[in-house]
Amino acid sequence: MIAQWGNLSPQQQQALIGLAGLNSVQADHMIENAVGVYGLPLGIATNFQINGKDYLIPMAIEEPSVVAAVSNAAKMFRAGGGFSASSDDPVMIGQMQVLDVADVQAAAQAVLAQRERLLAEADKVGGSIVKHGGGARDIQARVFAQTPVGPMLIVHLLMDTRDAMGANAINTAVEHLAPFIEDITGGRVNLRILSNLSDQRKARAEGMVPASELEREGVSGAEAVRNIVEAGVFAEVDPYRAATHNKGVMNGIDAVIIATGNDWRAVEAGAHAYAARGGHYSSMTKWWQDDGGNLRGSIEIPLSVGIVGGATRVHPVAQVALQILAIQTARELAEIAAAVGLAQNFAALRALATEGIQSGHMRMHARQLAVAAGAAGDLVARVVETMIAEKNIRLERAKVLVEELKTDKS
Ligand code: MEV
Repeated sequence: MIAQWGNLSPQQQQALIGLAGLNSVQADHMIENAVGVYGLPLGIATNFQINGKDYLIPMAIEEPSVVAAVSNAAKMFRAGGGFSASSDDPVMIGQMQVLDVADVQAAAQAVLAQRERLLAEADKVGGSIVKHGGGARDIQARVFAQTPVGPMLIVHLLMDTRDAMGANAINTAVEHLAPFIEDITGGRVNLRILSNLSDQRKARAEGMVPASELEREGVSGAEAVRNIVEAGVFAEVDPYRAATHNKGVMNGIDAVIIATGNDWRAVEAGAHAYAARGGHYSSMTKWWQDDGGNLRGSIEIPLSVGIVGGATRVHPVAQVALQILAIQTARELAEIAAAVGLAQNFAALRALATEGIQSGHMRMHARQLAVAAGAAGDLVARVVETMIAEKNIRLERAKVLVEELKTDKS
C-alpha cells in the first residue's frame, strides 16, 4: 500500500525495506572514517490530515509506542477536522561577531546604513537559492555593550533559503560579508556562522479533539479535557516537566526529521532555545478547552528543514520518505513536522492524564521480549497476551512460552 501511495519504484521499495538503502560507499562520502551504516526502524504514521490533505508520514525512531500513539492521536484530531498548519518564509539567520570597535552604537548604525549594499553582496554568493527566488532579505545589528571581552556588535544576515535547510548558503554568505563588515565598522569579525535559533522560520499547527473522543471507561470526556489542560499548564510553569513534555513533542518531530534526512540536532537546538525565549524554559505547546468544551492544542516552533541538498538528496531512504510525503516545499515539511509534534504531545498527555503510559509500554516491551525469545508470526501475539494475562513479562517466561505455544496449535 505504501509503495502504491508513494508510487515507489522497485528500487525504492528495496531501499525502504532495508534490502538496499544507504551503502558503505555512499556513507564514506558523507562522513569521515566511515566503517559502516547504522539502521533504525522506519514506521509510517497514519490518519494525518493537515490543511485538508491526507498524509502518510515516515518516522525513523528506535522507541516503541511512538508511531502507534501518534497515529491514534491523529485519528482523534481527524475527528475534530484535522490540523491546520502554517509556516513563515524559510528565512535563516547568519551571525557575524564584530569586536574591537570603539563605538558599537555608531558601528551598528553604519552597518544598517549599508543594508542594500550588503544584501546585494550576499546575493552574489547565493547561487541556485537566488535563482529559485530566495536570497538575502535583511540586515540586523544587535549591540552587547558590555561583555567579558569588551563591547560586541552582532550583525545578522537574514536569508531566504527556499527549499534548502540552508546552512551552507547562509554560512557562505556571512563568510563573504565579513570583510565588508570589517571595512564598514573598522572592527574585527571573529565568528561567522548561522544561528540555530531560527525564529524567522517557524512552523505552527493547531487542532481540536472532540471531548467525546476522549471518553473512556471511568473517565468522562470533560474530565479528560480538564486533565490534559492541567498537564499542559504543568509544562508551562515548571521547567522540570517542560523538559519531559518537550521531549515527547520531539519524539514526533525528530522522527520525521531523521526519516527525511534532515539535521535533527539543528532542529532540537532551535526548538529548545525557542522554548526558553521568555527567559524561562517552558512548553512548546499550549492546550486549552474551547467554547464547545472540546480540547484544543497548538504549537509554534522554529523548524529549519530542507527537501533539497545534504543528506535529503544522498540518502536513498530519505528520498523515499519525501516521495511518500508527496510534498512540494520545505515549508510543507515543516508544517507536517509541527503537526506531528503536537499530535505526539497530545498522545503522551492523554495517556499520562488518564491511564498512565506503562500499560501500553509494557505491551510493546512484551512484544520485543517475545521476538527476542524466538517467536514469529501469530506466535508473537499469543506469547504477548499470555505474559500480560499472567502479569509476568520477562524474557525467561517468553522463552518457555515460545516452546510451549509453538507446538500448541489451538
Ligand atoms: C517518552 O518518550 C515521552 C514522554 O515522557 C513524554 C511526556 O511525558 O509528555 C511520555
